[in-house]
Amino acid sequence: MNKQAIEAVIFDLDGVLADTAHFHFLAWRELAQTQGIDFDEAFNERLKGVDRMASLDLILRQSSRNYTHEEKQVLANKKNQHYQQLTATITPADLLPGARAALEAVRSAGLKTGLASVSKNAFFILERLEIRDCFDDIVDAAFLTHTKPHPEIFLTAANHLGVDPSACIGVEDSLAGITSIKAAGMFALGIGSANVLTDADLVIPDLRHFLLNDYAVN
Ligand code: G6P
Ligand code: MG
Repeated sequence: MNKQAIEAVIFDLDGVLADTAHFHFLAWRELAQTQGIDFDEAFNERLKGVDRMASLDLILRQSSRNYTHEEKQVLANKKNQHYQQLTATITPADLLPGARAALEAVRSAGLKTGLASVSKNAFFILERLEIRDCFDDIVDAAFLTHTKPHPEIFLTAANHLGVDPSACIGVEDSLAGITSIKAAGMFALGIGSANVLTDADLVIPDLRHFLLNDYAVN
């Protein structure tokens, strides 16, 4: 173990800090149903961490018909309106267990905190949860070229923080996110089930189990 090597922890938002992954699921499921497409929790795992248009493409691929770019735009907007309705009234009580304590632990250890979410609603959600000030850097998804599993977002966060990727821990609840972290050359801490997040370096059920001392960075 080489604790000194860790200089930053970069968190995903939905499903890691915020109890919002279920709202994405509900909004996508309703949209899929309007198109006669089956949608369940297992399929939803593939969408976690994937941006809005790429998620829509994965869903519409299940349909026998083709969609124009304009039709896709309308459907994506519908899903987003529904998601925004579902999240309009969230409060700090919607922080996942251990989230605030983990952010505070990282900062009091003198390490930097970053946020790496591909959600274009991230800034709004951070405001509602009252944790925007907990971050040294928040990557703005509007400026990204690639969605997870591409490493761009985690590399961008490390770059903004001025920390080498090898000195970062990335924290993720999604398959795409863990792949992104590993491709960026970081230690991948999975939140959820080790049976799902098979490529993570370590998996804990939630951030109540987050202990900085547990992680080794090569
Ligand atoms: C996160 C969530 C995904 C969501 C994506 C885009 O990565 O895990 O489920 O599709 O953000 O979110 P947005 O709010 O921009 O539609
Ligand atoms: Mg997530």
